[in-house]
Amino acid sequence: MLLAKPNGDNYKKKVADAVKHIHSHCDVPKNTVAIVLGSGLGAFASRVKVYHSFKTSEIPHFPTPSVEGHGGRVTFGTLGDRPVALIEGRVHLYEGWPVEWVTFYVEILRQLGIKVLILTNSAGGINPDFNVGDLCLIRDHINFMFETRLNRYGMEPRLRHVGFYDKDLSEVIYRTANECKITLRQGVYAGVKGPCYETKAEIRMLQACGADLVGMSTVPEVVAANFHHMRVAAVSLVTNKATGISECKLSHDDVKKTAESAREKFDYFLEMVINKHLAW
Ligand code: HPA
Repeated sequence: MLLAKPNGDNYKKKVADAVKHIHSHCDVPKNTVAIVLGSGLGAFASRVKVYHSFKTSEIPHFPTPSVEGHGGRVTFGTLGDRPVALIEGRVHLYEGWPVEWVTFYVEILRQLGIKVLILTNSAGGINPDFNVGDLCLIRDHINFMFETRLNRYGMEPRLRHVGFYDKDLSEVIYRTANECKITLRQGVYAGVKGPCYETKAEIRMLQACGADLVGMSTVPEVVAANFHHMRVAAVSLVTNKATGISECKLSHDDVKKTAESAREKFDYFLEMVINKHLAW
């Protein structure tokens, strides 16, 4: 496990090393859109004209995921006219990584000058209207990760007032879904640390708190990206109904299977967002 003081010189140097390695292999235009591909959604990369694809293990200090279904690549290329950076294989708090390593790729994107970040993830549906395979635009989140190390990003009051999810970018995504005739739910994402799926009682609590979805990622990166003034939006794929919302047992295999069967729709939708509708 890598340990470094989040704001310390040692950490900054590690980010700088990673950025230097990327720059030594490819240019990264300033209008690049970064897209994080969640569990099982990595096939989107096949739609991109690739300039350079790094295994995460090649990039100095880049934390490498341990969960199956997370590819572990950072790819630079274009989708139509738009330069894109794809992040596959983020690491999670539930694997034991400290926050600063979960957000390491955000620090890299920032140093590369990237200003737009679209995250995707898989999530459990708490809202009983949500079905397995639905896509949901995250409008807001509840941070149930109890992660004090995230406080390094919490010092700026601005974040609370404006909201974490960029209105314009979210509207682009919402409009694209309408035009593509894809049902896009909207909701509040509860970020939990995991690694266990929730109990029925926990889901009842999250529901009472106003959550529509639950998942184990996204919140740290969204907070970090906002801290760095990036425009952020996030879309969840509902891979299962949360515990107690359906009586089915949950497994990581089911999450992967649902991601696989919703993939075509998801990839087409994401391509339309970036290629056709994102004018800035
Ligand atoms: N709970 C937490 N995280 C998840 C779930 C869930 O039900 N499904 C996919 N990620």
